[in-house]
Amino acid sequence: MKAALALPAGMLVSHQSVAQSPSSLALTPECRDKVEATLRQTEGPFYSPRAPRKDSLVQQGAGGERITVIGLVLAPDCKPLPQAMLDLWHADEKGEYDNSGFRYRGHLFADAQGRFRFETVMPGLYPGRTRHIHVKVQPPGKRLLTTQLYFVGDPGNARDGIYRPELQMKREGVAWRFDFVI
Ligand SMILES: [Fe+2]
Repeated sequence: MKAALALPAGMLVSHQSVAQSPSSLALTPECRDKVEATLRQTEGPFYSPRAPRKDSLVQQGAGGERITVIGLVLAPDCKPLPQAMLDLWHADEKGEYDNSGFRYRGHLFADAQGRFRFETVMPGLYPGRTRHIHVKVQPPGKRLLTTQLYFVGDPGNARDGIYRPELQMKREGVAWRFDFVI
């Protein structure tokens, strides 16, 4: 499973060192019995393997709106899946991907309670797409989930044929929240 992601060797021993303090993440009200697995979506043409581990994707001197994304990684029975790896990539504030380096690309880990948190900037628009964040989620010993996250209420959503409302992040305080089910 881990080898399939072709991540740097260092990540395999780093699960225990994640120190995160996401705001208290209550289970969603609909998460009572069994919930649907998160929809899979194409990784698209701009995935780069071996993105470095980062606590924040924000670049020094970055423009654009800073955002915080939080959430949980859950099994279909709503139990948290600990220490999932999240590999993230998105366009910069101008709608451009860094296809030669790792700007706005990186991986991080959920904690032992399945909670994750990262900071970045609001992705810009590029032709044909609404704002979105690409992600691969890999809980230890489980199947890899590749999908995309969207911003609830974004005017571009309705014009994007790939967008799906099930993959919308919702506002939770100042953060955006999405819970993955794998
Ligand atoms: Fe994209």
